[in-house]
Amino acid sequence: MVHRNNTLLHGGDYNPDQWLAYPEILSDDLKYMKQTRANAFSVGIFAWAALEPREGEFTFGWLDKILDDIYGIGGRVILATPSGARPAWLSQKYPEVNRTDHRRQKMLHGGRHNHCFSSPVYREKVGIINRKLAERYKDHPALFMWHISNEYSGECHCLLCQDNFRRWLREKYGTIDALNAAYWAAFWSHTFNDFDQLESPTDIGEGWIHGLNLDWKRFVTHQTLDFYRHEIKDIRVITPDVPVTNNFMADFPNVAPFTGFDYAPFAREIDVVSWDAYPPWHNDYESTAHLASKLAFLNDYFRALKDAPFYILESTPSMVNWQPVNRAKRPGMHKLSTVACLAHGADAIMYFQWRKSRGSTEKLHGAVIDHDNSPDNRVFCDVAEVGQMLENLSEIADSRTHAQVAVLFDTESHWALDNAEGFSRQSKKYSQTVHTHHKAFWQANVPVDVITPDKCADLTRYKIVVVPMLYLMREKTMRQLQTFTQNGGTLVMTYISALADENDLMYLDEGAPILRDTFGIRITETDTLYPSQRNGVCYNGKEYEALDYCAIIQPTNDANVEILSTYTSDFYANSPAITVRYTDAANKKGAAYFIAARTGEDFLQDFYNQLIKENQITQPSIQTPPGVSVQTRHGNNATYHFVMNYTEEAQIITLANKMPDLISGIELNEGEIKLQPYDVMVLSNR
Ligand code: GAL
Repeated sequence: MVHRNNTLLHGGDYNPDQWLAYPEILSDDLKYMKQTRANAFSVGIFAWAALEPREGEFTFGWLDKILDDIYGIGGRVILATPSGARPAWLSQKYPEVNRTDHRRQKMLHGGRHNHCFSSPVYREKVGIINRKLAERYKDHPALFMWHISNEYSGECHCLLCQDNFRRWLREKYGTIDALNAAYWAAFWSHTFNDFDQLESPTDIGEGWIHGLNLDWKRFVTHQTLDFYRHEIKDIRVITPDVPVTNNFMADFPNVAPFTGFDYAPFAREIDVVSWDAYPPWHNDYESTAHLASKLAFLNDYFRALKDAPFYILESTPSMVNWQPVNRAKRPGMHKLSTVACLAHGADAIMYFQWRKSRGSTEKLHGAVIDHDNSPDNRVFCDVAEVGQMLENLSEIADSRTHAQVAVLFDTESHWALDNAEGFSRQSKKYSQTVHTHHKAFWQANVPVDVITPDKCADLTRYKIVVVPMLYLMREKTMRQLQTFTQNGGTLVMTYISALADENDLMYLDEGAPILRDTFGIRITETDTLYPSQRNGVCYNGKEYEALDYCAIIQPTNDANVEILSTYTSDFYANSPAITVRYTDAANKKGAAYFIAARTGEDFLQDFYNQLIKENQITQPSIQTPPGVSVQTRHGNNATYHFVMNYTEEAQIITLANKMPDLISGIELNEGEIKLQPYDVMVLSNR
């Protein structure tokens, strides 16, 4: 079902509905689209008021012309359903559609993403406009994908949503006793007699039952997905061959996918994963390479959701308008940040937005065409250069990433750990920790899949699986990880893992079964350090810092457990800090490493470099200095190495064999090659 057309997509959010009174601007757009080799446009995302200015009165004429015009220049359209924002008439006549916040306060009309997912009227009106769009454009040759709504997010706490939540709880637990047990409800007399007593969590009432908080987040995922299913119901029938996507989001400072709901179940129901990537390049708090490693992590998460190429559905060619400081991309960065996404599996580089708005909140947000409406503009020239580059690289479309290493990231565990009062509020850093483990492989030019727990059902393709800080761990995941080691795989797990079950109830007795059965250890305490305090761990004759968390562990009576490292100080000095247990000790196969303390990147780099060697993980035959990254995709007839200099200096790399650079068309000889600051190459190995 997924559309494959052997081209990389280039284009972006096109909002002609803002410019209908400017016909000369709309005709300039077509000219500039050709100049930038733009071939795909997301159209109509927030155009409901232009499509249905009054209830039941539809005006599609302008959109007909836009689709015809885009098709006329050889472009394609990702047609949006407009549910992300709605016309005033709708909220005025049906106020129930407005959201209610967690304090039970009804929102007024305005903004966007301000609707109730339960509201029957909203669903009805969305159903009508979506059906009209599908019926009208089903045979239009420009239509090649659906952009369902926009960045689904938020939650509603109205009475309708409360009813749906209670229904969902009833279905999940069956009896109120089962719910009370899962919620540890005897605590503070929070026992419920009936499902009708349950409400969504709030800070003016119940917000302290961790199981309830977790269930609410799960319900929001369910509710959003249910709304999405409603949106696509008729679209699937009317346009069965047109794939659908929705733009996912991420949080760069915390290196995390959006935490409002869980993308893992969502991804199973969409055809193409897309995300909106806005890395704050050139900031004053991290190196370009560090920020690039965050982008790499997020790209690897979004690609692995469907194990397929993904789309960058939004990015900025210059700057955004919502960062604390909105910095322009320096020369070369637009090309580099494009290749940064292609390298990890993107098949589309799209922008928000095509033309800068003249008014309202996004009038200063970067766009391909600025207010000067001129191609004689640095940003426009950068985009045109990238358009040419994407054409030169079209053969990489649909090529794949073959990762032999997986790092596990779980949104549910993220929620539960953030909610857990304990440890240290400032240093939990779940997503940052998963990223730090990923970064060690990224620095070694090793491709990684950032997988979600549902992927643990089949880990056979991986040689190494890393599980950092998986606080909430289901027994099913434990069994799957154990099978992985029994099949000879190398597993790494850390402190603050496997402490709570799926209800966020702590494991009793010896702790979670995986600790004893797979790692051969017991966690007796977890010491939380103040930010300036340090312990140390000795590993392979070298001493490394331990910070934030030091779990005190004891090997069980299992002869197969080896202590690889011990703490250097405090009352647990000389007790184990890193252990390994082999499933097959005689052949040293099926290693399960437990890292009990948080360390710096230096340890992780040394530790994982050793695992990379021992497990014979494939690395490209290109030697790179720090700050230069190589990532690899595999096509039918070629392997592509994406070389990226994320430093502000020239760098030297060494090629083991001759390879053409698909961007410049130059054949490069083996030996040393000089990369300019921010330079990129795509080397093809046939
Ligand atoms: C996205 C959104 C776009 C635009 C953009 C600005 O989150 O989907 O419509 O607002 O941010 O960066």
